[in-house]
Formats: sequence, structure tokens, C-alpha cells
Amino acid sequence: MARKTKKKPSVAKKQASRKPWGGRFSEATNALVEDYTASIQYDWRLFPYDIAGSVAHAAMLGKTGIITQKESRRIIAGLKSILQEIADGKLEFSVELEDIHMNIESRLIRKIGPVGGKLHTARSRNDQVALDLRMYLRDEILDVLRLLRELQRTIIGLAEQNQDVVMPGYTHMQRAQPVLFGHHLLAYFEMFERDRERLKDCYRRVNIMPLGSGALAGTVLPIDRKMVANLLGFRGVSENSMDAVSDRDFAIEFVSACSQIMVHISRLAEELVLWSTAEFGFITITDAFTTGSSIMPQKKNPDVAELSRGKAGRVFGNLTALLVLMKGLPLSYNRDMQEDKEPVFDTADTVTQTLAVVTGMLSGITVHRDAMRHASEDGFITATDLADYLVRKGLPFRQAHEVVGRAVLRALALKCGLKDLSLGEYKKLSSLVRNDVYQSLSVAASVGRRTSHGGTAPANLKRRLAALKKYVK
Ligand code: ARG
Repeated sequence: MARKTKKKPSVAKKQASRKPWGGRFSEATNALVEDYTASIQYDWRLFPYDIAGSVAHAAMLGKTGIITQKESRRIIAGLKSILQEIADGKLEFSVELEDIHMNIESRLIRKIGPVGGKLHTARSRNDQVALDLRMYLRDEILDVLRLLRELQRTIIGLAEQNQDVVMPGYTHMQRAQPVLFGHHLLAYFEMFERDRERLKDCYRRVNIMPLGSGALAGTVLPIDRKMVANLLGFRGVSENSMDAVSDRDFAIEFVSACSQIMVHISRLAEELVLWSTAEFGFITITDAFTTGSSIMPQKKNPDVAELSRGKAGRVFGNLTALLVLMKGLPLSYNRDMQEDKEPVFDTADTVTQTLAVVTGMLSGITVHRDAMRHASEDGFITATDLADYLVRKGLPFRQAHEVVGRAVLRALALKCGLKDLSLGEYKKLSSLVRNDVYQSLSVAASVGRRTSHGGTAPANLKRRLAALKKYVK
């Protein structure tokens, strides 16, 4: 389905045709009200879904005999040519016609005559807009899923190329225990995998067909909702007409799942910013994904990472906007709900753009393995391993912790690392220490021994990488 137009369509302000709901009104709409109530400036983006939904609806009206097959065919042909007009940027939308639904319907009637007025039989804009938004979200969810997968593939590739690279793992932003860089990276694989699961779960609930709910109460006409659902690829039809036109929980779920994605992206971005500082020097981001300073000639800034961190705020704002929008609304449809579009569109646009650019940035980073190794050879980073050594010799962990704490204090006083303390020094702290203690103080041994399920050992990383590579194929 054509989801993009050749150019952004223009929206005219000139007095258009009579309102589709003009019958009951004796006064023209105030110009301020026209502007205030219109959504065509942004909801035009729903046009492919609006038209696909109308085509299915018209086919159903013909099949059930609510309109004739001939009328149905004329309506469908008209709708298809309007789809082309919009895609080619040839249809000028009008503010007087409020939204995408009335713009298309009005164009249809102008195009094929009064028979076009039969399209809206057994339908309301309330169930129509719910349908359009669900169809739009199905496509966006699939896009986000695909982009997340691309990012995961990039993460796997980077972890694989740097399988033997050791770095300090941090807690409280203090060096804690050595880990494999690949293990650190694969932590993000797991996060993005859960993000994909959330989206897939959300998709199931988005993929329910609301059309046929009418304005709120259903319809007296013998419609076939299952047929429309089948034509549009929905897995089922909504069970309650009032719920179907008045809840937007499916959109909130999407924005919530996207918010969680942005939390993960933002944390990754923050690490890339830190790692690319002179202070860390763990990575270099390639020129194509950085920007310069207008005053300081030497600067190369990680703006892409920073913006992806910053844009998380927009998405969280969108989530809040939608929650607050819905919380006070009595059943069923209320016009407030028109305000759902921009936060939803902005979320989808922000997340798809962000995932694409972050994936590009990550795939081009240079890893400075020596700097990472050097940082992980910090004198105390294997302190836990020393405690574990004493535990293996039979000391209760709490006592081992105490002994190692004193060893650290002693090393600090002597201005050296744990591996530089003499055996004599160690013996003074615990009679359990033997010459083999130095083996357990090496970074390689520390990492190599962490073979518990999910631990950082190279053997684990190798196995996990092999499994994941097969999984993402
Ligand atoms: N533009 C409206 C929206 O986005 C469509 C539904 C309008 N329905 C109505 N009864 N005014 O929510």
C-alpha cells in the first residue's frame, strides 16, 4: 500500500463545499472554529488506510445488498483514483472539510456523483477513525519491529568482532568487575528483544476491527463485519460498539512500548557519549555520525547520541499527553480524542528515525580495545575474585569480604594494586592464602570463571552469540 505521498499535500482555507453535516445548520461555521476543529493538517497521513477501509466497507455494502454491486464497484473505482490523486500530490485538502475522512468522501461525491454519498451508509467517522488509526499503527509497529531487529543485528556483529575485548563493568559509575565488551553489548540485545515482544503483544490488540460500531451503538443495517475484517487482514472484530469507538488504549500501549524503547536507546546513547570522551577513550564515533563546533575547531561532538537521548523526552511527553487526554472522558466518543493523532504520529516518526540513525552510528564505531583493557586492569577490580578465592578455601563469604576489604586498605596505603601485595602481606590477613592467589587476581581469570548462566565468561558469550545469530537470521 502506498504510504507516502510524492509531496506533502497542501491544505486550502478557501470556502469549500457545504458541510457533510450541513442539513441541521442555518449559520456558517465561524472561521476561528474552522481552524480550531480541523485535523486535516495532520490526519491527511491516514489517507491510505482511510481509503483501504472505505474500499472494504463498500465491497461489504455491495455483497450484503445494502447497496447494489454496481454502486459498490463505482465507489471502489472512485476511491482508487482518489488514492492515486493524493499519492501524486494532486488533491488539495480543505480545512472546511475538517478531517481526512470528510475530505475523501467529499472528493468522492464530486468525482462520481450522488452515489458517492452511499459510502457512508452504516458507518460513522467515529468507527472510521478508530479503524484508520489501528491500520496505521499496524504498519508502524511492523516498521519499528524491523528497525529493532536491524539494531539487534548490528549489536551482534559488534559483539562478535570484539569477542575478546575486556572492559570494566560498572556499578554506581565506579569500576566494579571486569566484563567482556560483547557481554555488555548483548545486554542491549536483551532489552531490545523485550521491546519487540511488547510491540508484538500490542499488535495483537491493535489488530481488532472496529468498523461497524457506527457512531456508538451499532447499526440497524445487515452489515458483515467479519467480511470487512477479513478483507483488511484483522484477526477479529471488536465486541462492544461503545468500547470500539471510545477507547484509545491500543494507541497508548504503542506509545508506552515506544517509550520503553526510548529509555533503552537513551541509556545506550549515554554510554556512547561517555565512552567517546577523552576521559574514557573506549570508542570513536565515525565522522559521518558526529558534528563539529562553530567556534572550537578541534571539537567532534556525539550529537546523534545526544539527540537520541534527548528525543526520549518527546516520546514520554506524548505518552503523558495521551493518558491525560483519555482519563476524564465519559463514554463514548468525544472530540477530545482527535488530539490523539499528533502524539501518536510524532512517536512513530521519532522512534523510527531514532532507531535508524542509532543503528548507523553504532555500526561505525571504532573500539579501542587497549584503552578498555587498560581501564579493566585497575588494581582492585578483581577484589570480588579474591573473596571468592577465600570462599573456595572454606571461609564464609562475609568474613572473606572483610579480609579483602583490609587487603584493599593495605594496598591503598602501599599505593599498589591487589596483585602487587606480597604473599607475606596476604598471610598476615588470612592464613588461608597460598601462592595460587595471584591466578585468581588476573582479569582473564575473573572473566573466564564467570560461567554461571548469563555470566560474562567468554564461553558463555560464544554460545549466546551463536544462538542469537541463528535466532535473528
Ligand atoms: N477527526 C475526528 C477524530 O480524529 C474524526 C471523528 C469525528 N467524529 C465526530 N463525531 N466529530 O477524532
